[in-house]
Amino acid sequence: MRRESSIHGQWSSKLVFVLAATGSAVGLGNIWRFPYIAGENGGGAFVLIYLACILLIGLPIMMAEIALGRRGRQSPINTMATLSREEGLHRAWGFVGWLGVAAGFIILSYYSVIAGWSLSYVFRAGGGAFTGLDADGVRGMFESLVSDPERLLAWHTLFMIMNVLVVARGVRSGLEKAVKFLMPALLGLLLLLVGYSMSQGHFMEGVSFLFKPDWSEVTGDTILLAMGQAFFTLSLGMGAIMIYGSYLSSRASIFKTSAMVVSADTAVALLAGLAIFPIVFAGGLAPGEGPGLIFITLPMAFAEMPGGLVFGTLFFLLLVTAAWTSSISLMEPAVAWLVENRGLDRPMAAVIVGGIAWFLGLGTILSFSLWSNPIGFNLTLGGEALFIGGTLFEMADYLTSNIMLPLGGLLIALFVGWRMTQRSVEDELGLHSRAFFRAWYYVLRFAAPIGILLVFLKAVNLI
Ligand code: PHE
Repeated sequence: MRRESSIHGQWSSKLVFVLAATGSAVGLGNIWRFPYIAGENGGGAFVLIYLACILLIGLPIMMAEIALGRRGRQSPINTMATLSREEGLHRAWGFVGWLGVAAGFIILSYYSVIAGWSLSYVFRAGGGAFTGLDADGVRGMFESLVSDPERLLAWHTLFMIMNVLVVARGVRSGLEKAVKFLMPALLGLLLLLVGYSMSQGHFMEGVSFLFKPDWSEVTGDTILLAMGQAFFTLSLGMGAIMIYGSYLSSRASIFKTSAMVVSADTAVALLAGLAIFPIVFAGGLAPGEGPGLIFITLPMAFAEMPGGLVFGTLFFLLLVTAAWTSSISLMEPAVAWLVENRGLDRPMAAVIVGGIAWFLGLGTILSFSLWSNPIGFNLTLGGEALFIGGTLFEMADYLTSNIMLPLGGLLIALFVGWRMTQRSVEDELGLHSRAFFRAWYYVLRFAAPIGILLVFLKAVNLI
């Protein structure tokens, strides 16, 4: 059954949906996570696998997720329950919604801590703290920040309050306003940084690191990480895009809007890579620096470039904004559910969701100081000793990006591709070209789920 609107509201236009979904997709995942994970995993081959996952798995699943949201027009948990009922399927499909809400809490908990780092860098950049620093200086600055739990707690708390404030105001007055101007500004600043990078003499080194594949280094884990990054960066598999789709007008084209979001997201990630790696090589740093990568490389660039004070401040400000428009989408599925099922008003629901994620975030804060020793166990698999575990931050990140999101995506592909009737799917998607619908349906039914399964199996050395 087609539903015209959600009780939570509706985007005022198709373009606003594209901006909001792009706001959700573009965030720390593109500018912080993509470069550091690519750097740790050898660059080129990782990047190409990531791009393949975006196109073959990400885009088709994004379309499926939006279609589900728009058909159900409720929080992902209730959308899955309602659609299962309507299609005569087992209630257990509601699990997809719950899995997503759990992933949302865990991601938000550490996302907010990293956004807090960015927030603190706005003030450092603005205060001229980078001036005259060399590589060791900027690293020292980063390390002193992350090893100070009290400071991290203050920034994390501030960022979480910012999220609650926006989400409390709801779809139109809260979410929409934030994204309209900030996305284009971020793009402009990234282009400027790429321009600076090009002038540093190591640009081609950066380009070849990013695009020249060395397949000999690729393991099952590399592929899993690349697929996980594709899900993470597109906000897929946890219901964020689903709920944004539930606020989309019935007339908008799901394919066109998805294609725009995916292209913008991919462009930002690649630009971030092109901005960062040449600076890494020019400064004699290692690409495998880890989560601190952009917080160490970018200040070096800002310290040297003319106008670096202004551009640096602006850059971190925009990074915070990009993180902000992503994290509100992490909260939205759980908030909408509390409103629908517990009868809470939006502000109360936002406070509860933000409060839980804030508390969980303490684990990430301490992962860089008091609890920086990895916890876990040794496993012997096929004669190979393997350590499973890490810091709480590493585990939260690995579990959500590489396991929960792809699993959510797999279930969504199976639900839309195999369990819903083709009629409902076609009706909701409203594609004019038959051939095009068939191509998408085929990829969703076969290529995407089989791809995800193979990557899972390869990662645990079963194939
Ligand atoms: N896509 C966001 C980013 O790249 C993170 C995110 C993941 C947001 C999952 C919502 C859901 O920063």
